[in-house]
Amino acid sequence: MKVVIIGQGYVGLTIAAFAAEFDSVVGFDNNQVIVDQLNSGKSHIEGIDKSLIAKWLKAGSYKATTDAMDIVDAEVVVIAVPTPLTQDRQPDLSYLDSACKTIGENLQRPALIINESTSFPGTLRNYIKPAIEKHSPNPITHLYAISPERVDPGRGDFNQKNTPRLFAGLTPEASAKTHEFYSMFCDQLVEVSSPEVAEAAKLFENTFRQVNIALVNEFAQIANSLGINVYETLDAANTKPYGFMKFTPSAGVGGHCIPVDPTYLAAVAEENGAPATFIRRANEVNLEMSEYVVDRVQADNDGSLQGKSVLVVGVAYKPNVADVRETAAELVIKHLRGRGAVVSWHDDVVGNWKGESSSPLQGADMAVVVTKHDSVDEKKILASAPYVFDTTGKVKGAKGL
Ligand SMILES: NC(=O)c1ccc[n+]([C@@H]2O[C@H](COP(=O)([O-])OP(=O)(O)OC[C@H]3O[C@@H](n4cnc5c(N)ncnc54)[C@H](O)[C@@H]3O)[C@@H](O)[C@H]2O)c1
Repeated sequence: MKVVIIGQGYVGLTIAAFAAEFDSVVGFDNNQVIVDQLNSGKSHIEGIDKSLIAKWLKAGSYKATTDAMDIVDAEVVVIAVPTPLTQDRQPDLSYLDSACKTIGENLQRPALIINESTSFPGTLRNYIKPAIEKHSPNPITHLYAISPERVDPGRGDFNQKNTPRLFAGLTPEASAKTHEFYSMFCDQLVEVSSPEVAEAAKLFENTFRQVNIALVNEFAQIANSLGINVYETLDAANTKPYGFMKFTPSAGVGGHCIPVDPTYLAAVAEENGAPATFIRRANEVNLEMSEYVVDRVQADNDGSLQGKSVLVVGVAYKPNVADVRETAAELVIKHLRGRGAVVSWHDDVVGNWKGESSSPLQGADMAVVVTKHDSVDEKKILASAPYVFDTTGKVKGAKGL
């Protein structure tokens, strides 16, 4: 079967790497640099080893391309392009638009088209299908389905194979074919009654995390105001064997999912006249955490950060990945600089970011730990500055939330 995957990022490349064992896979991406790297056997995604890419390239079951002509005879097309927020934090479907245009203009035979990009309920039915049909020069009856991606890059215990996968087609035939496609490399497939349920479930999963993270972030502030250790309190609550799930505080949430997906749910809710007050407030609490952290650091240092050298440790949005999308470190750095601090950052996993390079883990007046990669030594963090504020709860002996 010829499978074309539109977008070769975290999601698209992960699917490609699993599907290439069974199918002939073409990874279509409009970024020539990524395509060239992949075709030379390099992986830019944690969790997808370059040896796997090299193996599929050698076997002839995988190639990356920027050439839309490679889509012409696809039997399965998987969409895995970004669905971010616009500048004013509204759903940005422009990448989906462009993917639909490419598919519509080039796909010349009936195919199964599956969306894996996260978006609001109704996207497959009311947006993707009409867009592809609009751009198609000839009327072709494709099958359409949704199967929201749940991959957690950098995670060892759950992967594409053992993470249950939701799916639903617009027609029973689309559902059946989608089941057939994923069952090659997924152990457990869960069919739901409509694409809208699958789309909503994906958004709700991440909204559940966003709201709980906001709650624990708010609780960290309450605990501090009461002189109670937040981590000890959370551990104590977590001894309850039912009805409690532990989340930990942080400098805010990052990544492509948690700060973004709930806003898709809120936008569609409000469009339909339903309130999304929890979601909106949770987003604010998480965004405000960076300023709270800087307030705490400033208060601990005689009320002024003017001219002080501050090293932000860890700028990736989560441990052990190089992904900086929506990272809380960006707001922490902004607030530190806004108060006159001279800020550099250390993160050898990220390396380069926003035209700056990772600085050595040493020699600062103070250090603020935003993300702690496993490879970064706790003792070196403590030795990097006379004052260390840790937002992760992983650096014992540092000041913290
Ligand atoms: N990263 C995750 O952990 C994760 C998990 C679950 C769901 N998702 C969702 O999956 C989708 C993709 O996310 P990602 O993390 O893989 O993004 P990504 O930025 O890592 O990769 C997207 C790729 O798509 C390419 N691209 C953009 N527009 C294109 C177009 N029109 N044609 C061809 N290629 C195009 C980009 O060059 C990029 O390489 C998003 O909707 C995201 O919310 C992501």
